[in-house]
Amino acid sequence: MDYLYYAKKYLINTYKHLPVVFTNAKGCKLYDVSNKEYLDFTSGIGVMALGHGNEKWIKAVEDQLEKLVHTSNIVLNIPVLKLAKKLTEISNMSKVFFCNSGTEANEGSIKLARKYSFEKYGKGRNTIITLDRSFHGRTMASLEATGEEELHKYFYPFPEGFKHIDITVEALEKAVDSTVCAIMIEAVQGEGGVNPLSKEFVSKVFEIAEKNDILVICDEVQCGLGRTGKLYGFNNYNVQPDIISVAKTLGGGLPMGAVLCNEKLKDTFKYGDHGSTFGGNPVCAAGAIEVLNEITDESFLAKVAEKGKFIKEFFKNNSSKNIKEVRGIGLMVGVEIKGKASEIQKKVFEKGLLVLTAGRDNVVRILPPLIITQEELEKGLNIIYEAIKSM
Ligand SMILES: Cc1ncc(COP(=O)(O)O)c(C=O)c1O
Repeated sequence: MDYLYYAKKYLINTYKHLPVVFTNAKGCKLYDVSNKEYLDFTSGIGVMALGHGNEKWIKAVEDQLEKLVHTSNIVLNIPVLKLAKKLTEISNMSKVFFCNSGTEANEGSIKLARKYSFEKYGKGRNTIITLDRSFHGRTMASLEATGEEELHKYFYPFPEGFKHIDITVEALEKAVDSTVCAIMIEAVQGEGGVNPLSKEFVSKVFEIAEKNDILVICDEVQCGLGRTGKLYGFNNYNVQPDIISVAKTLGGGLPMGAVLCNEKLKDTFKYGDHGSTFGGNPVCAAGAIEVLNEITDESFLAKVAEKGKFIKEFFKNNSSKNIKEVRGIGLMVGVEIKGKASEIQKKVFEKGLLVLTAGRDNVVRILPPLIITQEELEKGLNIIYEAIKSM
């Protein structure tokens, strides 16, 4: 069967698919229809932190599938309650709202911040400051929050009340006025090119926010939940936001997102203010508990940090005039190159390796499952290096 033809004929053309159809996977390896093996340096864009086919996760999901798949949010289920307790406790937050994706988690975060400000300060204090090169999702408010004009161009009008700024302390200070209710950041920008924010900038965000009762929203959809070798990306900066949005890793491969808030915001949303049919689905929640069990283990996180250091070392020892910079934290690494990252993506694909691109097609993004072995890491890095060197 010509599946690639099906893709061309029937799928709306929003993705540039690599010419491969996968049928199964285990750990960091994926297998296509002809059983060719590929090494996964993408983790399904930061989702499969535990790798493919994690046995504890599968068992939890299968058990739950047989017991109860879906009810609705007019009633409660056990996995979502256990997950709510665990996720809020490990995050040092007070309460959580569950949804299905990263963009939806950000929509919820934006609404929550605006309601807090409206109730306390009245109309007009609703601006959210977001950063150049940020990525917050594809629904209208999250897309408007995204600091990448190229993604906006066909879709006006957007919801009002967003201010995109350059990532400088001066731009931040200039942007803050009496209409601002929140500042939204990714501690390590993912799609924008794997850009860790500077310590100086992040501490200024929190300082200004505290002084002005402005809320800080950390979009941890990509850099959160173990990816950087700490539970959250912002943990690398010694700060604690008012709102955290998470998704990707949380569901372990099933769609799940969450908005976490602190004590100040825990009663802001009231009955009817927000909702989601599938939010807190028991099957997704049962799997998510297993994900959290694994990624909160200190030795697991320490290994992620070590592997991240190894990648940096690797590129120190294997330099090339085609590499501009290697940056990132933990297993979220960007290799900025002089040519097109999509060309490298194609080249390494031919050698059986999947990588991501980021930025403006100038960054090869390495985002492997967090359980990747040293051997797999070395194998993939060598393939990437050879491809970049021979550009
Ligand atoms: C930081 C960040 N926020 C939000 C999103 C959107 O998440 P989703 O695709 O699950 O809606 C992404 C997706 O890549 C992301 O990286």
